[in-house]
Amino acid sequence: MSTVVLVGAQWGDEGKGKVTDFLAERADIIVRFQGGNNAGHTVVVNDEEFKLHLIPSGILYSDKLCIIGNGVVIDPVVLEKEWQSLIDRGIPLAKLLIDNRAHVILPYHRLQDEAEEELKGSAKIGTTKRGIGPAYADKSARTGMRIVDMLDDEELEAKLKLNIENKNRLFTSYYQTETLDYDQVLREYKKQAQWLRKHAADCSEVINDAIDKGSKVLFEGAQGALLDLDFGTYPYVTSSHPIAAGACLGAGVGPTRINKVIGVAKAYTTRVGEGPFPTELNDQIGENIRKQGHEFGTTTGRPRRCGWFDAVIGRYSARINGLNYLAITKLDVLSGLPEIKICTGYKLKGELTTTFPASLKTLAQCEPVYETMEGWQEDLSEVRKFADLPKNAQLYVNRISQLVGVPVALIGVGPKRSETIILEDIF
Ligand code: GDP
Ligand code: IMO
Ligand code: MG
Repeated sequence: MSTVVLVGAQWGDEGKGKVTDFLAERADIIVRFQGGNNAGHTVVVNDEEFKLHLIPSGILYSDKLCIIGNGVVIDPVVLEKEWQSLIDRGIPLAKLLIDNRAHVILPYHRLQDEAEEELKGSAKIGTTKRGIGPAYADKSARTGMRIVDMLDDEELEAKLKLNIENKNRLFTSYYQTETLDYDQVLREYKKQAQWLRKHAADCSEVINDAIDKGSKVLFEGAQGALLDLDFGTYPYVTSSHPIAAGACLGAGVGPTRINKVIGVAKAYTTRVGEGPFPTELNDQIGENIRKQGHEFGTTTGRPRRCGWFDAVIGRYSARINGLNYLAITKLDVLSGLPEIKICTGYKLKGELTTTFPASLKTLAQCEPVYETMEGWQEDLSEVRKFADLPKNAQLYVNRISQLVGVPVALIGVGPKRSETIILEDIF
């Protein structure tokens, strides 16, 4: 049995797409288990760039099976477009299955996401406005539409009618925005259902059967630990569970079926959207990292906030995910800096703490305590062996590993599949 859960260890955009694509070569099945098209996973093969939002990052291997699990919220319009755009590029793709139990994002979810952000004003979350939060809220409220419902005309009509009536009431009286036309939405979703029918399946059964037969399964997380609904910087989080445990719920596999958990972390930290960020750099260094690392959102194009590596977050993430390994990405981006800082703890009311606080008020009072290390000037993009990295880069990676308490399995030295240093075999 060989199953690996890959998760973001920070606030998302750690390079999960790249690492998933890299590891997928050795996997048989690649599964997305939570989130939706709020995710933007970039894969670069040779000189071609692919931005994936819903389709697993293993899709570029035609001999694999890719699965969108029950824990994902699916915007069928976006999904079909993404699939078609890959086909249009003429690449032979992996097979794609979509779980019957996954919930569907409807136009009213997108409207509600936007209206809610507008209403919150300066207290907004900074969501991707893709309807993710409202879709998960309806799932919990038991008013959601699942793929299996959408594929049944009677169910689709009845649920859509009731939901649009209720949402339109909300849009007129509370949000004071436009309303939706039932017939128009029904037409669009009936059309999407025809396409979805070819891919829908009971994916939990497929995955568990494959594990029984010895297949290698890679679970690809979206977002990151600090955006987790329970463990993230609530309320500035997403509405799903990006941590490793989410793979069990979102793919229908028991915890006893998971062998390894790998956390992807950037060699520094970034965040998109609102919310606290202790090591944020609002200065020229932060600006340089953004420029050097092309830190602009894959989904929304927003500039990402940049800061130093935070080992308090690293340790917290290792704990809540049960990390076996770290994949450290974008080490190459730090080349050229005279010195690099790592946050080893927080100073809170004069005391040193290494525990990530639950209260945002407390977090806002935390001052990062830094350790300064010497930088390196060399370009790393051609390096393929740890021993060939400049000494200071080796020391930096080793220090991150020591502070987080997790061994490093892989290092990213560029966006391309080939720009990777392997330290431990994952599969
Ligand atoms: P994800 O959401 O975690 O998959 O990450 P994104 O794709 O949103 O953002 C990561 C960005 O960094 C993408 O543009 C990747 O192509 C790029 N990237 C990934 N790993 C590396 C790396 O090791 N070095 C460099 N320079 N870029 C990387
Ligand atoms: P990947 O998978 C980075 C952030 C949004 C916002 C918060 C809530 O590419 O790492 P949502 O639309 O989910 O309700 O927004 O979560 N966010 C991400 N930030 N990477 C992502 O995905 C994100 N998905 C959501 O910016 O702060
Ligand atoms: Mg991303």
